[in-house]
Amino acid sequence: MTEGGAMQKGDALLDVRGLKKYFATPRGPLQAVDDVSFSILKGETLGVVGESGCGKSTLGRTILRLYEPTGGEIFFDGQDIASYDKKRLKKLRTEMQIIFQDPYSSLNPRMTVSQAIAAPLVLQGIFKKNDRLGIDARVGELMDLVGLARRFVNSYPHELDGGRRQRIGIARALSLKPKFIVCDEPVSALDVSIQAQILNLMQDLQGEFGLTYMFITHDMSVVKHISDDIMVMYMGRVVERAKPGSLFAAPLHPYTRALLSAIPIADPDVKIRKEILKGEISSPVNMGPECRFIGRCPDFTPACIDKAAEEKEVEPGHFVSCVKYDA
Ligand SMILES: Nc1ncnc2c1ncn2[C@@H]1O[C@H](COP(=O)(O)OP(=O)(O)OP(=O)(O)O)[C@@H](O)[C@H]1O
Ligand SMILES: [Mg+2]
Repeated sequence: MTEGGAMQKGDALLDVRGLKKYFATPRGPLQAVDDVSFSILKGETLGVVGESGCGKSTLGRTILRLYEPTGGEIFFDGQDIASYDKKRLKKLRTEMQIIFQDPYSSLNPRMTVSQAIAAPLVLQGIFKKNDRLGIDARVGELMDLVGLARRFVNSYPHELDGGRRQRIGIARALSLKPKFIVCDEPVSALDVSIQAQILNLMQDLQGEFGLTYMFITHDMSVVKHISDDIMVMYMGRVVERAKPGSLFAAPLHPYTRALLSAIPIADPDVKIRKEILKGEISSPVNMGPECRFIGRCPDFTPACIDKAAEEKEVEPGHFVSCVKYDA
């Protein structure tokens, strides 16, 4: 987190500083996550938004150490997990989990509901593979918790609708009693009517277990509804962080304004100019310090090329990285 960050360090479950994840490409490093800093307080939800390819999933996976970080620090419960070895990572897996967008492709089609939910429990050695009674009891408990009727215990994923499949994904994620869950577009693939049910379930579970969420989504109305803080990403960088109220009422970064202007304005809180995103988004390969929004920015000045904008706290808890606010 930058100096004077919004959150009290003591209360943060996750504190990410200068995190980088670069992928090697023939044209040079693809800076999928580039110098990203933020924290999430225990029991809160950070919503992460931005267009496709801006690095949301890569950020989530790097924090979970599913990807090796290129640089930076990831403090989880006070420990820098960026340098954990395999053995310590296995233990960490019980504390950090992920829920994917498409539960269908993330579930093994040949595993029953029971087998899918039990898999992490067996893998982590919480139950022996042949401990049927223990496993069945815990699987039943988890199914109740996520509102999945027990009659589906021996069903296969293809026999269930999207909402029920996502309930399996949530039960699996909860099975090891984690503290932190990366929710990577968990409702984007679901019918709108089911989305609300799953979001409500996730919020109930958060309250019950004091879970901390990083919630990745394209959907600005979802993020507004569920987030304690929102972080806007553009081409691997964070351009703005704020509480939903400030972000929607007074978006500061030209990119955030453009992003918000793209949503239908049925919402009286959303006071923004109609600014249409112009130009194509490309991958951040081999880029210098310059602002990455240059090519599409209505407020572009030569100063935007010289150096990366420092993140500034314009109002308490409202951070922006744009040279416009440097003075
Ligand atoms: N394993 C990988 N190898 C190489 N490049 C990758 C890899 N994963 C992601 N990228 C690149 O990193 C950038 C960020 O991708 P990422 O999937 O994190 O974006 P995203 O914000 O999650 O997008 P979406 O909203 O479409 O899910 C993109 O340019 C993508 O092409
Ligand atoms: Mg993604």
